[in-house]
Amino acid sequence: MKLWGGRFTKETNELVNSFNASISFDQKFYKEDIEGSIAHVTMLAKQGIITDSEKKSIISGLKSILEDITSGKLEIDNVHEDIHSFVEAHLTNRIGDAGKKLHTGRSRNDQVALDMKLYTRKEILEMDTLLKNLLKSLLSIMKENTETIMPGFTHLQKAQPVTLAHHIGAYFEMFKRDRSRLNDIYKRMNYCPLGSGALAGTTYPLDREYTASLLGFNGPTLNSMDSVSDRDYLIEFSSAMSIIMMHLSRFCEEITIWNSNEYQFIEIDDAYSTGSSIMPQKKNPDIAELVRGKTGRVYGTLMSLLTTMKGLSLAYNKDMQEDKEFVFDAIDTTKGCILLFNGMIDTMVFNKDNMRASAEGGFTNATDAADYLVNHGVPFRDAHGIIGKLVLYCIDNNKPLGKLSLDEYKAISPVFEEDIYNAISMETCTSKRNTTGAPGQEAMKEVISIYEKYLED
Ligand code: ARG
Repeated sequence: MKLWGGRFTKETNELVNSFNASISFDQKFYKEDIEGSIAHVTMLAKQGIITDSEKKSIISGLKSILEDITSGKLEIDNVHEDIHSFVEAHLTNRIGDAGKKLHTGRSRNDQVALDMKLYTRKEILEMDTLLKNLLKSLLSIMKENTETIMPGFTHLQKAQPVTLAHHIGAYFEMFKRDRSRLNDIYKRMNYCPLGSGALAGTTYPLDREYTASLLGFNGPTLNSMDSVSDRDYLIEFSSAMSIIMMHLSRFCEEITIWNSNEYQFIEIDDAYSTGSSIMPQKKNPDIAELVRGKTGRVYGTLMSLLTTMKGLSLAYNKDMQEDKEFVFDAIDTTKGCILLFNGMIDTMVFNKDNMRASAEGGFTNATDAADYLVNHGVPFRDAHGIIGKLVLYCIDNNKPLGKLSLDEYKAISPVFEEDIYNAISMETCTSKRNTTGAPGQEAMKEVISIYEKYLED
């Protein structure tokens, strides 16, 4: 049952067995383990290290194990230490002595490094697809809302009017960067560690370039000690996932605020809300809150990995087995959150009237009123002071800027004329802002067409 019983004279302590074993979690990459083994024996046969008929028998044995695990016929039990031992034991059971040649020129150290890379690579691509779908949803909200006015905030205080398209566009940028981060990690990690042996390579004439190409890598890794002890890509991936979660969490925070009784900017669909066991009136944004909460869990993975790796001498150390459970959890958590979040925003309704009323109510056009004076020859600093007084007057009289009479305006500065109303309308405030990246319709149209092209690729 053990791959290493030869030099031992005593049975392993039972607690040691279960403490040491990883099969309860590394079974997650049984497919990748078998895929790697098939590539390995294909290379061994090409190099004349095993015969063609041994290769055929090993591959058909491995394929039958893969099928049986996938169909549920073969259950992965906890008798074996890890998935590598499990597969090898079942292979030898099925095909006899040829199975014992599978591990020629290989160690579990380069094998597990390979399995984890194959698994991570696949998950990076799946996560990228989920992000792309999310971006499609964001873009469709943007296209429909280039004229939907809402307040833009700084310090969570109303600042200037923007459009919903513009606000959502900020998140489009964030998730776009997340995709490019995943892409970078994929490129950097895509080198095959197999053939590095335990740490020092091997004396067998392996063709590592060939194995790497069979498995879709850019090439073999170039240092066998680094190959078996490199977990940088997992740290980078955990960091990228932490940033994705941070973005989702910020968005969820806004959704929670927008969904509050005071704001009522949005209505979350019933299918994505939950109720209270005691208060019948409640409809809570639990999904947004949970996504925000789960962010901490993914950050935990990053901290855990960094800490696990910080004191490790070269090359492989068993500490590295601790990479798996956290990373698997972070991947499942992040993917789940992107998916649920996407469903939530796809079904969410925007209360455009409330958004607009809120933008009108908070002096978000004060900057534009100051700009009006500047355009009529008043120096900006003086204009700032005049509008400040005007705002004070409005607060005392409980009126927005747009509802003051011209006489009231003129009482504070004679420069104001009838055209002030148009100059500070919500439409003017947003549509005149057309520098690249601004909320004006002209500027947004260009950005939206860039996003459309980006999503076509
Ligand atoms: N389960 C081990 C891990 O995840 C596999 C490698 C074991 N290697 C060893 N030298 N004990 O790291």
